[in-house]
Amino acid sequence: MSALAVEGVCWHAGAVPIISDVTLRVAAGEFVALIGPNGAGKTSLFNVVSGLYGPSAGRVLVGGVDVTGLAPHKRARLGLGRTFQTSAVFASLSVRENVALAVQAAGGGSMRPWRRRTDRRVATAARDVLDRVSLGPRADARAGDLAHGEKRKLEIALLLAAAPRMLLLDEPMAGVSAEDVPALAEVIRGLTADGRGVLMVEHHMDVVLDLADRVAVLHHGTLLGCDTPAAVMADATVQLAYLGEEL
Ligand SMILES: Nc1ncnc2c1ncn2[C@@H]1O[C@H](COP(=O)(O)OP(=O)(O)OP(=O)(O)O)[C@@H](O)[C@H]1O
Ligand SMILES: [Mg+2]
Repeated sequence: MSALAVEGVCWHAGAVPIISDVTLRVAAGEFVALIGPNGAGKTSLFNVVSGLYGPSAGRVLVGGVDVTGLAPHKRARLGLGRTFQTSAVFASLSVRENVALAVQAAGGGSMRPWRRRTDRRVATAARDVLDRVSLGPRADARAGDLAHGEKRKLEIALLLAAAPRMLLLDEPMAGVSAEDVPALAEVIRGLTADGRGVLMVEHHMDVVLDLADRVAVLHHGTLLGCDTPAAVMADATVQLAYLGEEL
């Protein structure tokens, strides 16, 4: 069963077609990168998959469940996690507190801060999540004081707190300094553990080619193909449509 299935999805902004008949699957434990020129529709496709935009045609399935008509928070509860371009952490709280609140919220519990120190289960889960993104040593730092690459790791930790089966990452390396990219890439590489599916939009081609099992290429809202990194790099249409422009 696919972690994510996008079937014949179309989306229009007013009368303008932005996403045209996109079909794409991400298997459990698979890492798929979504590339394409600026304005190709990558973020729009994420918005359709996560439920911010309603498609004019097609279906979206998460773990085999049709979520096409569901609101974003209901999709999240069914195992779909998504990062945004903008940071969504509580800057004045510690890294540990941010993650503990996310664990508590994901468990359907209260987000009242005065309960957070008393719940051992939450604390243990938060520590596990922080270790997975290698932020354990920074648990007591103020989230607002983190470097950009660390903040990205924290955002991923907040997603992992909900134990998603499918993750959408929209340019997780954006704004991260070159020296911090390898460590962040290692954290992202580990996200497919436990059979989680990952779909990542990323412009750093070296990271894409290194991490992805398959690469999907979007151009003017149409999927040109989805294949192994080597096959995609060798494809003449892809080179013309994307790589020729970008590299
Ligand atoms: N809500 C909206 N209303 C109108 N047009 C939109 C809307 N959302 C996206 N678009 C348009 O859809 C096209 C695709 O935009 P999108 O942000 O999905 O591209 P992208 O592939 O993510 O680009 P980038 O690489 O720059 O992030 C653009 O022309 C954009 O202006
Ligand atoms: Mg985008």
